Amino acid sequence: MMRVYIFLDRLTQMKEIHKKLYRWYAKNGRHDLPWRNTDDPYHIYLSEVMLQQTQVQTVLERYYHPFLKRFPTLTALAEAPLDDVLKMWEGLGYYSRARNLHKTARLIAPALPQNYEDLLQLPGIGKNTASAICAFAYRQKRAVMEANVRRVLCRLYALDDPKEALLFEKADTLLDKENPFDYNQAMMDLGAMVCMPGEPACDMCAFVSVCRAKELGCYDFPLKKRRDVPLRREVIVVRICDGKIALRQREGRFLHGLWGFETSDRPEGRYVGVVRHQYTHFKLENEIYLISDARESGGCQFTLQEIERLALSTVDRKILKLLEREGITTRP
Ligand code: ADE
Repeated sequence: MMRVYIFLDRLTQMKEIHKKLYRWYAKNGRHDLPWRNTDDPYHIYLSEVMLQQTQVQTVLERYYHPFLKRFPTLTALAEAPLDDVLKMWEGLGYYSRARNLHKTARLIAPALPQNYEDLLQLPGIGKNTASAICAFAYRQKRAVMEANVRRVLCRLYALDDPKEALLFEKADTLLDKENPFDYNQAMMDLGAMVCMPGEPACDMCAFVSVCRAKELGCYDFPLKKRRDVPLRREVIVVRICDGKIALRQREGRFLHGLWGFETSDRPEGRYVGVVRHQYTHFKLENEIYLISDARESGGCQFTLQEIERLALSTVDRKILKLLEREGITTRP
């Protein structure tokens, strides 16, 4: 631990490390990411929310640009119905992010606040998102703490399971206060491309001479908690009524606002098959049953074309696919 503390006390050494980091970043960084080439706070805020639980590639290829095309400003987002926002979020998962984004837009359109504490008051904006908006949109001295940066810090200081406050303290110490934009972007890329999960590429790393994990020859920081993921089984009854498919708009906390098939406490009708899906905290196994001539739908009824325009969860889209594969629903 001594080595790290000695290094942190020495400003010149810190400057040297920053220089090395920027040299590496200039050559290897992901400079063309669109949210790194704008200073529009709304665009940066959107990217940060999308990137919270999702890979850069997915956000870049499928979600960021279409969302901004549909809702180019915070005001456009605020004025849109939630159903439209959920539709643009379809497949990205963690839909509370979209609901909070929409709530925030309605609270503060036309512009985001420029102050860290004010940002923290808004739905869905935690310390990391507020820090990222401040550092990237307003060039304020805030350290970003997404998953890659967290791993870099945990290895650098050999931290098994640190509290958030300790991590932010370490992050603030290391932050280049003169250039929070490049510093934070570079740290994220270093975590993603050099200090990777598994075996890191230490010979490329700006921190190699002061890294506690490197010194120990052990990179298992932070400690991975083995979590047994529970299996949740559900019965889904698909009702087809007058040739249309019955769906309900979900009201509970889980997938709130999305359209989906009816879950039931018992099987009814003909067995069709099983649809599985892996969430972060549990596995879902749905047994699908069909009533193809339901007298009552117990929800709203839609054609396949109409369903295309609704926001459905990935699981419900998988159920639709199964129904198509089995020839139960066919497109006109
Ligand atoms: N994850 C969160 N913010 C990011 C950014 N600005 N660039 C790449 N990945 C990120």
